Amino acid sequence: MLKVVVLVSGGGTNLQAIIDGMAAGRITNARIEAVISNNRGVKSLERAAAAGIPGFCVSPKDYETREAFHEALLSKVEEFAPDLIVLAGFLVRIPEAMVHRYANRIVNIHPSLIPSFCGVGYYGLKVHERVLERGVKVTGATVHFVNEGMDEGPIIAQKAVYVEDGDTPEILQRRVMEQAEWILLPAAIDDIANGRIEVQDGRVVRKDGGKE
Ligand code: GRF
Repeated sequence: MLKVVVLVSGGGTNLQAIIDGMAAGRITNARIEAVISNNRGVKSLERAAAAGIPGFCVSPKDYETREAFHEALLSKVEEFAPDLIVLAGFLVRIPEAMVHRYANRIVNIHPSLIPSFCGVGYYGLKVHERVLERGVKVTGATVHFVNEGMDEGPIIAQKAVYVEDGDTPEILQRRVMEQAEWILLPAAIDDIANGRIEVQDGRVVRKDGGKE
């Protein structure tokens, strides 16, 4: 059974997709041990509580230095000895020590087709604002392993979503979530939990040789 810790910052719809995926059997061999938020009082923690999952807040505001926050976050995560850490809308750059300790065991969901519209400054609605400014006709989402870079780790899965005339950042964000994020992230966790993928030479390969 893969022990999963989910890190969140806000609404937690991706967390909900994982919870629902486990309940419905779309994700097997995995269990969420804890949900950790960097913000207090967020909907994500309500979702965790409603599902009977322990929820915690580790806020940078409670620590004098970034280093102290990083240590607190890492030690909270380690309490659960996770096999996999899922960044499900976690808007904090994670400590390098965590990246190294959990190499190829941290996954992130990003709401664009990496390497487009990613990197420093591309988070949350800003991604969709820039997609609309640029006028691309296709966007999407990417699930990837986390390395030291920003949105640069090995890509696990991607799904394209059409941009439509009249889209606002909010409308587009919702479509990307519904058509891509909420499908890709649970599927990636299921693949990891069932040993279907591995990282070889910095790229993700499917051990079954099949398609997603
Ligand atoms: C998602 O779009 C995710 O890709 C991005 O932040 C958003 C979080 O949404 N990194 P939610 O908290 O899962 O609802």
